[in-house]
Amino acid sequence: MSIGSEADSGVSTYHRSVLEKEVMDLLIQDREAAYLDATLGGGGHSRSILDRLGSSGSLIALDRDPEAIAQGTKIFQGDARVQTHLAAFSRLEEFCAPASLGGALFDLGVSSHQLDDRTRGFSFEPGTPLDMRMGPDADSSALDWLKDASEEELAECFRDNADLERSRALSRRIKELLGETSQPDSEVLRHAVSDVYRPHDLERNRLLARVFQAIRMQINREASEIRKGLSAAVKALAKGGRLCVLSYHSVEDREVKQVFRDFERDCVCPPELPVCQCGGNHRSLRKVLRKPLIASDTEIAENPRARSAKLRVMEKV
Ligand SMILES: C[S@@+](CC[C@H](N)C(=O)[O-])C[C@H]1O[C@@H](n2cnc3c(N)ncnc32)[C@H](O)[C@@H]1O
Repeated sequence: MSIGSEADSGVSTYHRSVLEKEVMDLLIQDREAAYLDATLGGGGHSRSILDRLGSSGSLIALDRDPEAIAQGTKIFQGDARVQTHLAAFSRLEEFCAPASLGGALFDLGVSSHQLDDRTRGFSFEPGTPLDMRMGPDADSSALDWLKDASEEELAECFRDNADLERSRALSRRIKELLGETSQPDSEVLRHAVSDVYRPHDLERNRLLARVFQAIRMQINREASEIRKGLSAAVKALAKGGRLCVLSYHSVEDREVKQVFRDFERDCVCPPELPVCQCGGNHRSLRKVLRKPLIASDTEIAENPRARSAKLRVMEKV
């Protein structure tokens, strides 16, 4: 069943889905099963899932952003197979019973809609407010966090969430600039990056992207969301169900790989135990793809956001 064209659904203007056909081919094994889209966004992947499902198939779609849920409610109204919920995916157990899903998709990070809306504060263009909350469940705005956190906490965030060098010097400069500015916005971070790294033009944008990525991950607790959400999804998958995850930078991908590694292990005994005592039969995932799938040159030319995407796919055993 198809639910309107891209033009009348608004899907393509909100966000252009990445590796759409590849995800569908790997995710959907049973047309009549229940599926989870943990990151609804503009609803593009959700719509493709629904297009492939039969009349008894169903879709649970989550997003922590009320704007994504409003968009999803609008484009899927009238399709009884869909449920949308405003919730972080760490809470997916509330909506998905154990061993109930034929597949789950996590398309991590932010949507183009979130990036393009200046008021949301995700872009590092000059004059952007320091917000970066994906939804009302975030702890605080970026500005409040930057003001309240210590220099050491800032430095730790830049190291852990973006592998940034000179993170201590950057944190010190941000704190100084915050103290000197009456209405701080993205200019504080732009100036701090220029002052600390003295980058040339191309390098400046790369550094700014990493600084913003680090703060965004902190504000939205993204690393812990990935760990909790993927672990909950493994429980919610039925045997043979597939877990597809799209990540867009190395720190996200590192978290994803770590969770997958944990669920691929047969033995879960602490490493200091000389002999296995857990029974050695704890493996609950197997790799479907040996290496992550990346976008084709054609897709990247049409959608530059696909450039950094990595698709990892696992199956519940
Ligand atoms: C890359 S977009 C998803 C795009 C979507 N696949 C599509 O085709 O339009 C990521 C979405 O995930 C949401 N999101 C990110 N982290 C989340 C989390 N922990 N829980 C729920 N939603 C989350 C964001 O609000 C954003 O709308």
